[in-house]
Amino acid sequence: MADKEDPRRRAFVIGHPIGHSRSPLIHRHWLERAGLEGRYDPVDVAPENLPSFISALRDGSSGLTGGNVTIPHKETVLDLVDNVDDIARQIGAANTLWLENGRVMATNTDSYGFTANLDEMATGWDAGKTAVVFGAGGASRAVIHALLSRGFEQVHIVNRTEARAQALAEAFGPRAVAHCNDRLQDLLGGADLFVNTTSLGMGGTEVPEVDFTVMAENALVTDIVYIPLETPILAMARRQGLNTVDGLGMLLHQAVPGFARWFGVTPQVTPDLRRLIIADMETHI
Ligand code: ATR
Repeated sequence: MADKEDPRRRAFVIGHPIGHSRSPLIHRHWLERAGLEGRYDPVDVAPENLPSFISALRDGSSGLTGGNVTIPHKETVLDLVDNVDDIARQIGAANTLWLENGRVMATNTDSYGFTANLDEMATGWDAGKTAVVFGAGGASRAVIHALLSRGFEQVHIVNRTEARAQALAEAFGPRAVAHCNDRLQDLLGGADLFVNTTSLGMGGTEVPEVDFTVMAENALVTDIVYIPLETPILAMARRQGLNTVDGLGMLLHQAVPGFARWFGVTPQVTPDLRRLIIADMETHI
């Protein structure tokens, strides 16, 4: 069993496929920095093997301490663990697991990662009242959770398929309001924050021309997509003179709480770590 005092604690990231994950790079960097002997390894777990993987985590036979969960297991894992916290429950997905008294615990750190990135890169970003979130997929749920937790009075969810935006608005209560894409420009008028969570502009798709200059003074435009670092939407906003923050910091910060749980040391998101991941992005897209 992976004892809490065992200096060689082992953590994982499970997905299917798993080759693309940058989490090992992040956690191994932190292990090295902290001088710890622990390990962090990618494990390819096919969907039909997820229940046995979680059982082996629980009974200690895998020797694992905890780890990250990525596509396609983030939702299905909720039914297999022993405890799902409120954040993971509300987001409807977990990305971080750990063991507590023989029980498998699950949380979602994406909302924390989003918030911590903006706290670092755009102090005061949460002073605004109105936010526009573009997209209503899984990632958008974590963003909406973060915005409501930080006191935004109105979170407009704009999505091509309005029904998906509607489902999110219902899940998050009256401060979240659903709209279809043709309302985007109007809703930007006077808004304090715009968050892109869609893949729009990637892989050659067209990005509609948006006028961000109608947003409130000192408004911020951010993207949770980080490949490329400057997405077409961020580039457009920057050209129009808006403040922008890229999404790489969300990836880095969302990893912090998991590392702290598994290895007992709270790691730092440093310029060195950022450079390491950017260098990897330049060589492995
Ligand atoms: P994730 O879990 O990463 O958020 P997702 O669930 O596939 O990914 O969601 C992708 C988001 O991008 C959705 O909001 C999607 O809109 P639909 O719900 O209408 O599919 C949005 N999206 C993707 N391609 C788009 C496009 N070409 N135009 C407009 N929205 C797009």
